Amino acid sequence: MTLAAVDDYVEFCLFLRRLTGIDLTQYKRPQMERRLRTFYANKGITLLTDAFSRLRSDPAHLEELLDRITINVSQLWRNPEQWEIIQTKLLPELAEHGQVRAWSAGCSYGAEAYTLATISHVAIPKGRVSITGTDIDKRMIERARLGLFSDEDARTAPEALLKVGFDRVEGGWRAKLKLRTMTRFDTGDLLQMRPQQGAFDLILCRNTVIYFAEPIRDELHLRLADALRPGGYLVIGSTERVSSPAALGLSMKDPFIYRKL
Ligand SMILES: C[S@@+](CC[C@H](N)C(=O)[O-])C[C@H]1O[C@@H](n2cnc3c(N)ncnc32)[C@H](O)[C@@H]1O
Repeated sequence: MTLAAVDDYVEFCLFLRRLTGIDLTQYKRPQMERRLRTFYANKGITLLTDAFSRLRSDPAHLEELLDRITINVSQLWRNPEQWEIIQTKLLPELAEHGQVRAWSAGCSYGAEAYTLATISHVAIPKGRVSITGTDIDKRMIERARLGLFSDEDARTAPEALLKVGFDRVEGGWRAKLKLRTMTRFDTGDLLQMRPQQGAFDLILCRNTVIYFAEPIRDELHLRLADALRPGGYLVIGSTERVSSPAALGLSMKDPFIYRKL
């Protein structure tokens, strides 16, 4: 398959969208093409028709491809400096308003959601916090529900906090029951979701829209801003930015933290 050829790439995207609902045309093309080309080179598949029939007939192969195109890298307390601000500044402020409804958008296998659940116990022990994690990748959502993490996942976690939220299990850590009751995980495609206006007090959308083409990234930030109540916060990844915060009704509090006006 010569995915470099425009027709092949577009045809492939259309096929995959029909098969799975995932729309690759909204992602950054050079990156995506590179991943697809490597995937098919390793499989020795050169014809588009062969690629299609294999994807149609072999669910394990389809899963493997999806695994390759969704980058699921995550970690507990990923970018610890952000968590410090969320714990000491955002959560106490948000809790003054009542229940904190949080959304981890593009949650992968749940590290972000369980980190938030843990620091909520420390920052606002009497506060009510509910956390929804969503991801397009159904296998990640199944994993997130188990709340299991490796030692590598816990590498950047502050030890004392880790022990608040997690029990030692063979080969790693498991989120305690108190955390699992605060969190729920659902499959969802950010490109299709239309969250209710003002439904959340805190949205974490880190290292996810970074894979999307620029216009769709801005559109998604707009939808996320819309899903925040006034005074709520959007937290993005440390290498990301919101293009025109004011136009979305957001003010920048920190390079990666935006407050809904
Ligand atoms: C790199 S992980 C980020 C995980 C976590 N937010 C963090 O920062 O550690 C990106 C996640 O975005 C998910 N993703 C990609 N496209 C998506 C889409 N259209 N809708 C929802 N999730 C998507 C991937 O499946 C992946 O789990």
